[in-house]
Amino acid sequence: MNLPEGIKSWLTVGETAARSGVAVSTLHFYEEKGLIRSTRTGGNQRRYARDVLRRVSFIRVAQRVGIPLSDIAAALSALPDGRTPNREDWTRLSSGWRAQLDERIDQLKKLRDSLGDCIGCGCLSIDKCRLRNPGDKLAERGPGPHRLLVAGDTSS
Ligand code: FES
Repeated sequence: MNLPEGIKSWLTVGETAARSGVAVSTLHFYEEKGLIRSTRTGGNQRRYARDVLRRVSFIRVAQRVGIPLSDIAAALSALPDGRTPNREDWTRLSSGWRAQLDERIDQLKKLRDSLGDCIGCGCLSIDKCRLRNPGDKLAERGPGPHRLLVAGDTSS
């Protein structure tokens, strides 16, 4: 990797933690889970290839939007071994996630926009429930907030 003068291609665990914003213990945890990998110096110290910063950032943001670690691990396992993933590799990864991310975006938008209205949960506690869910008619569809869930949500 041709890096500008002074830019290191291998980072210590401390440098990786500082630049990525995650704790050293979290990096160790990610490594235990096989999400990232390090190499060892002659003195048995961990060193991370600089592209680990992208992986760690990807993991952090994916977790922040609620994507389970197992899904993140599966996605990262699609990246090539033994070389730095390039833009095409990451684009391929993200295209595999597009449907899942779109559904999450739809759910977040619905959550953002629906809390001022009846969500069809059965509580009948706000004035709009009388109109949107008279007598909890939506219970006929089964459990869950039917007016809040996006199409395809099977979590209820
Ligand atoms: S908000 Fe719960 S039934 Fe309307």
